[in-house]
Amino acid sequence: MARVLSCIQPTGDVHLGNYLGALRNWVSGQRENDVFHGIVDLHALTVTETPGVLGDQTLSLAAMLFAVGLDPDVATIFVQSHLPQHSQLAWIMECTVSFGELSRMTQFKDKAAKRESDFVSAGLFTYPALQAADILLYDAQEVPVGDDQRQHIEITRDIAIRFNHRFGDTFVLPKAVTPKAGARVMDLQNPTAKMSKSADGEAGIIYVLDEPAAIERKFKRAVTDSGSEVVYDRAGKPGVANLLEILAAATASTPEATAKNYTQYGALKTAAGAAVVEMLAPIRRRYDELINDRGELTRLVRRGDERAEVVAAATLARAHAAIGVLPR
Ligand code: TRP
Repeated sequence: MARVLSCIQPTGDVHLGNYLGALRNWVSGQRENDVFHGIVDLHALTVTETPGVLGDQTLSLAAMLFAVGLDPDVATIFVQSHLPQHSQLAWIMECTVSFGELSRMTQFKDKAAKRESDFVSAGLFTYPALQAADILLYDAQEVPVGDDQRQHIEITRDIAIRFNHRFGDTFVLPKAVTPKAGARVMDLQNPTAKMSKSADGEAGIIYVLDEPAAIERKFKRAVTDSGSEVVYDRAGKPGVANLLEILAAATASTPEATAKNYTQYGALKTAAGAAVVEMLAPIRRRYDELINDRGELTRLVRRGDERAEVVAAATLARAHAAIGVLPR
C-alpha cells in the first residue's frame, strides 16, 4: 500500500466536474492505498481575504468529502490549519528552497499577472514551500495531481533531496502520479471549456448541492450542436458529446452505448438531467444531515486531524532532530 496524499482548497462550491473528475475516484480508490486528504485552508489564504468565510467553507468541504463517500475509518481527512506542523515545516522549506527556484514557478507567474492590480501577497510566492511541507510531513510516496501541479511536486522533490543531502536522510521523496481518469465534464453553456468555478456564468455549472429543479433546468438549457442526430463526436458535436459523457458517467455506461438509446437532443437532455439528479440525491441528503449535525461533523474532522497529527508530528520531530535545533 502506498501512502497517497491529495489536497483540496476550500474555495468555491463543489461541482459536477470536481465530483465526476476527481472525488468519485477518491472514494472508489480509498481502500487501495493509505490515503490522506488535506483541506488546505492556509493555501486558500493566499487569495481569500474576506473575514469569516474560510471556516464555513472548510467545514462545508469536509461535510462534502464525507457525503460523497469517503469513509472516516479508512481515509484520513484533516484540516491543514488545525495542524501547526504545516506552518512550522513550511518555514524550514522556505529556507531550503531558493528565491530563484520559486521565481520559476509558472503558477506564481500566472497568478501574479492575473492579480496585477490586486494585492500580490508574499504567500502567493512562497506557496510551494507550504505545499512541500504538506507533502513531506506525511511521507507521501504518491501525489495525484493535474498537469498544473506537476511543477510543485517537482520542486517538493528537489527540496527533499536538498534537505536530505544537507541534514541526512529525513524525507521520503514523493512522486507526482496521474489520477485515474474520471469523466471530463465540460461547461453546459460552453462545452469546449472545462466545467470550472472561474467560468463567466453559473448557467453551465452543475453544483453537487443544486436543487433538482435547478439541475433539470440547466440540462434543458444546455448548448447543443447544429444538426439533430445523437452521435458521440467530441470534435464535431461537443455539446452532445458532453451530455453523453455525463449521462454515461452517471449510469456506469459508455458514451458510445448511451448514444444508441437516443434519437433527439431533447430526450437526451432530459435523461442526463434526471440521471444526475438521481446520482446526486443521496450525496445532498448526507451533506444536509452532516452540516446540520455540527457535533458529529466536528467529531469526524477531529478524528482525521488526530490521525494526521501523529504522522505530521513525528516527521517534524525528525526534521528538527536532523537539523539539530535545540530541543525544548
Ligand atoms: N496547490 C494545490 C492546488 O492548487 C493544492 C495543494 C496544496 C496540494 N497542498 C497540496 C496538492 C499537497 C497536493 C499535495 O490544487
